[in-house]
Amino acid sequence: MNVVFLAPSYPPEMQQYTRGLAEVGANVFGVGDAPVSALPASLKRHLHDYLQVPKLMDEDDVVARVHAWMRGRSVDRVLANWEVMVLAAAKLREKLGVAGMSYDAVRGFRDKQLMKERVAAAGLRVPRSMRVRTASEAREAALKIGYPVVLKPIAGAGSADTYEVRSEAELEDVLKKTQHVGEASLEEFIEGDEFTFDTVCIGGKPVYTNVAQYLPKPIIARSNEWISPVITTVRDLSQPAIASGVALGHQVLAALGMGDGFTHMEWFRKPSGEVVFGEIGCRPGGACLVDQMNYTSDIDLFREWARAVCWHAFEAVAPRMYNAAIIFKRAKGQGRITRITGLHEFMRKYGDFVVEQHLSPVGTQRRNWKHTLISDGHILLRHPDFRIANELADLVANEITLYAE
Ligand SMILES: Nc1ncnc2c1ncn2[C@@H]1O[C@H](COP(=O)(O)OP(=O)(O)OP(=O)(O)O)[C@@H](O)[C@H]1O
Ligand SMILES: [Mg+2]
Repeated sequence: MNVVFLAPSYPPEMQQYTRGLAEVGANVFGVGDAPVSALPASLKRHLHDYLQVPKLMDEDDVVARVHAWMRGRSVDRVLANWEVMVLAAAKLREKLGVAGMSYDAVRGFRDKQLMKERVAAAGLRVPRSMRVRTASEAREAALKIGYPVVLKPIAGAGSADTYEVRSEAELEDVLKKTQHVGEASLEEFIEGDEFTFDTVCIGGKPVYTNVAQYLPKPIIARSNEWISPVITTVRDLSQPAIASGVALGHQVLAALGMGDGFTHMEWFRKPSGEVVFGEIGCRPGGACLVDQMNYTSDIDLFREWARAVCWHAFEAVAPRMYNAAIIFKRAKGQGRITRITGLHEFMRKYGDFVVEQHLSPVGTQRRNWKHTLISDGHILLRHPDFRIANELADLVANEITLYAE
């Protein structure tokens, strides 16, 4: 089983997928822009071979170089778990004649307007939206759709350049801030709670399913520095309020022609109970979401994903035993972190529920909270009761503080 895996070292969790592939018996041919000398030894031992390319984001260049590199060797899979690489992987599959999702199918998971059109065509509820390229198209679309609306890049990530717009005046303001965005989607703003729907699929059918709730919605968490964003996996997927989102998720996978691998969907539940599609990628969620899923059931999805995509088998039994909550902390102030308050007290009382404590230690430089979802570190905890898991998460959010200079 020869597997070309794009971007095996970055983002860091890609190293775990590389390990998973090696553990299920694949020869991993990694392709990245880092020099081989910069790869950690823990990754290198799982790589069969490695190709350094000058521009990882240059699809055609990557395709040409990998094609030349693999000449004379058989290739069974071409895979990527990083959003920005999924189209390159599809292009490479087509070039090499390797089985897997087509370029067109992957486009439906990458282009936010196209995905909504395809999902809507299957009769599913999506926010009303329009593709806009100029300020005047945006104004026109906002009038047609009606305020409040959301303006976001067509292939965005991490809520970058994404704005909630409540009036014409706000739209003018946002248009000024987003002049560098070439193509955007302008859509109906959906009020309500926001969740994920995550799967590992074989032939488009989920062999593993997860739901997590964002507390608060990412658009709020990403625009208010004082908030400690929380994401909690939902242990009980059969409760009616969640099951309707799961059902929507299954229909979306069918509508978009999912193949093998991870999916990460976001959906809304309105106060009326109606569920609405948000967006979907044919790759895993980032920001430790796969770790959270692993802690929910004590499994190793890095490896089980690999087994699913290589051998079309999923062997993990995944009993949902916990609600796993991750809390991202943002330090107060700028520069180096000088002290952390409340941590000792929290760990003394509730340390039994904590599975990871990765707050940036005193002395380290604080990260730019706008640039990173993981902020100044996280605490990951779990509890069998959803309410208690979130109460503990609230304590971490409110009673642990990192101070910077
Ligand atoms: N139509 C909408 N109605 C309400 N909120 C929305 C809508 N579209 C986007 N949002 C909010 O903006 C956030 C970012 O939007 P979206 O998920 O489409 O972009 P993204 O940049 O790909 O996000 P990420 O990479 O963080 O998942 C969503 O998580 C949600 O909180
Ligand atoms: Mg999103």
